[in-house]
Amino acid sequence: MNILVTGANGQLGSEIKSLVNDFSDLKFFFKGSSDLDICNFLQLEKFVVENKIKVIINCAAYTAVDKAEGENVIAQKVNEEGVLNLVKVSKTVNAKLIHISTDYVFNGEAFIPYKETDDVSPIGVYGKTKRLGELAVLNSEIDGIVIRTSWLYSPYGNNFVKTMLRLGEDRDELGVIFDQVGTPTYARDLALTCLTVLSKSKGQKISGKGKLYHFSNEGVASWYDFAKAIMVMANVNCNVKPIETKDYPTPAKRPHFSVLNKTKIKTDFEIEIPYWKDSLGECIFKLKKK
Ligand SMILES: NC(=O)c1ccc[n+]([C@@H]2O[C@H](COP(=O)([O-])OP(=O)(O)OC[C@H]3O[C@@H](n4cnc5c(N)ncnc54)[C@H](OP(=O)(O)O)[C@@H]3O)[C@@H](O)[C@H]2O)c1
Repeated sequence: MNILVTGANGQLGSEIKSLVNDFSDLKFFFKGSSDLDICNFLQLEKFVVENKIKVIINCAAYTAVDKAEGENVIAQKVNEEGVLNLVKVSKTVNAKLIHISTDYVFNGEAFIPYKETDDVSPIGVYGKTKRLGELAVLNSEIDGIVIRTSWLYSPYGNNFVKTMLRLGEDRDELGVIFDQVGTPTYARDLALTCLTVLSKSKGQKISGKGKLYHFSNEGVASWYDFAKAIMVMANVNCNVKPIETKDYPTPAKRPHFSVLNKTKIKTDFEIEIPYWKDSLGECIFKLKKK
């Protein structure tokens, strides 16, 4: 089965790349933004048709949450129009599509973990454009699913773990927000889930049991808890202080609570999800070895 991974040089794409040896029955085509632009329909269609692609895993996205506030046109182009192109091409060649979305489609006013059936109400440009991308898949008739995830990190690209390690080496003390709560997610665990979902739905529709899923690691943390754990696990001597969101103003507003309920994906695909601190330890171990 031929699988196209778009946005292949980002965190999730890189983690899928690192897992290919465990899925030797699948043939992967990894394409970064400079080789294959999801906003260029003709280029996309030509590639998909010529290479007889049967599955697309869309790891491409405009992910700069704060910059998106001033770049809504480009954010919407990638996060909505790019996804509409993927849907259209999937329909043409009858391919399956796995599309990734975000906890930032929620406004964060809940007190219990968000289910797939809960109302969305994004509070920033990034979340709004990602919601439009979700709708492109959810309103289509293709065999496609949307997996929402949260707080992704990995040894690749830029992310909170790498930022904390860098700042922690330079500073004795660091203020980190404690009044935003969610769940850190190791991109490797999400990558494995995407491939597991695919292999478990072999010969059947991936959207047979539902089109929308939530996935993060298990557990709950504030950014402060996350930063503390990073410093302890990496043995970095930096004092992490809890601060409030109002003391760290950013261009984009973020939800105060964005914990996801993952019961549906665990049940439908018989997936076991690691606790966030266990996965964080694994990632830090890899980063330290680099
Ligand atoms: N990072 C998080 O904390 C987080 C949280 C929740 C959900 N998500 C979602 O999870 C998914 C994966 O995120 P990630 O952290 O792996 O993102 P990432 O590291 O920012 O990677 C995204 C990739 O998409 C590529 N891209 C951008 N525009 C493109 C286009 N027009 N055509 C093809 N590729 C394009 C980028 O390439 P260039 O770098 O060359 O532009 C980049 O390599 C995304 O859908 C994201 O919205 C992420």
